[in-house]
Amino acid sequence: MSDTYQPDGMTASPPRLEVRDVTVRFAGLTALDAIGFTVEPGSVHAVIGPNGAGKSTCFNVLSGVYRATAGSVRFGEAELTALAPHRIAALGVARTFQNIALSPRLSVRDNLMLGRHRLTRAGFVAAGLRLPSARREARLHGERVSEIAAFVGLAGRLATPVGLLPYGVQKRVELARALCMEPRLLLLDEPVAGMNGGERREMAELIVAVRESLGISILLVEHDMGMVMRLADAVTVLDFGRRIADGPPSEVQDDPEVIRAYLGAAGESGEATP
Ligand SMILES: Nc1ncnc2c1ncn2[C@@H]1O[C@H](COP(=O)(O)OP(=O)(O)OP(=O)(O)O)[C@@H](O)[C@H]1O
Ligand SMILES: [Mg+2]
Repeated sequence: MSDTYQPDGMTASPPRLEVRDVTVRFAGLTALDAIGFTVEPGSVHAVIGPNGAGKSTCFNVLSGVYRATAGSVRFGEAELTALAPHRIAALGVARTFQNIALSPRLSVRDNLMLGRHRLTRAGFVAAGLRLPSARREARLHGERVSEIAAFVGLAGRLATPVGLLPYGVQKRVELARALCMEPRLLLLDEPVAGMNGGERREMAELIVAVRESLGISILLVEHDMGMVMRLADAVTVLDFGRRIADGPPSEVQDDPEVIRAYLGAAGESGEATP
């Protein structure tokens, strides 16, 4: 891993994220029921809970993919619930998906360049006309992509089509693509799902490195409790769309309602218990 990776542009500490009374209803189903939590600037905040608890729905509201039925999400001065996904991304909120959402036939470099798109000024027309300004901009973005690739340990893979890489490496490409947006808040939906022990450890180290070298806030959905307890400064627990606990990992881990929610879930589906 490179130690030269530095934040680009917005170096001030990220704004606080305040989720207040957010409700999401789908026909007949309340996926989120007036939930709230606060992500402090520069912290790692985990959202955990059994399958179907509403974690991904919460991410989809924060990134503008789903519209909240009620409630507010403030990122500093901005109210996110009224904004389209690209406007939220432009404020520096980047995400990864529970299921990999990369272009498998494109190289790692091209996937990462797509992540820089919101920062591209010249646009497609200038680039297509090969104007000098567009060429210069493309070169700068290319250099930044190389830096970020080195930081996440992908320097030797830039030319490889993503679909040919092992699953664990693809998950790192997803993280790198999110970093290419120069985020101030990073939303990671199950970054180690489906990984083996070694890959999990590497990803955990990478998340720590991102936080330490960039100072950005990270909101993490994860089923791996060991990882949550090691990485998170604060944990919010959801169950059937309700917030059942919120606090430092050590307290949340011993909360009777949390234990009950997880034991119930384990009885039904064999999911990991805390
Ligand atoms: N677009 C949608 N339309 C209808 N129902 C939905 C939609 N998205 C999610 N749901 C429902 O909302 C509930 C919460 O789902 P969500 O995906 O947020 O859970 P989760 O906590 O991420 O679960 P998992 O741990 O399995 O990923 C579930 O009952 C799910 O079926
Ligand atoms: Mg989910």
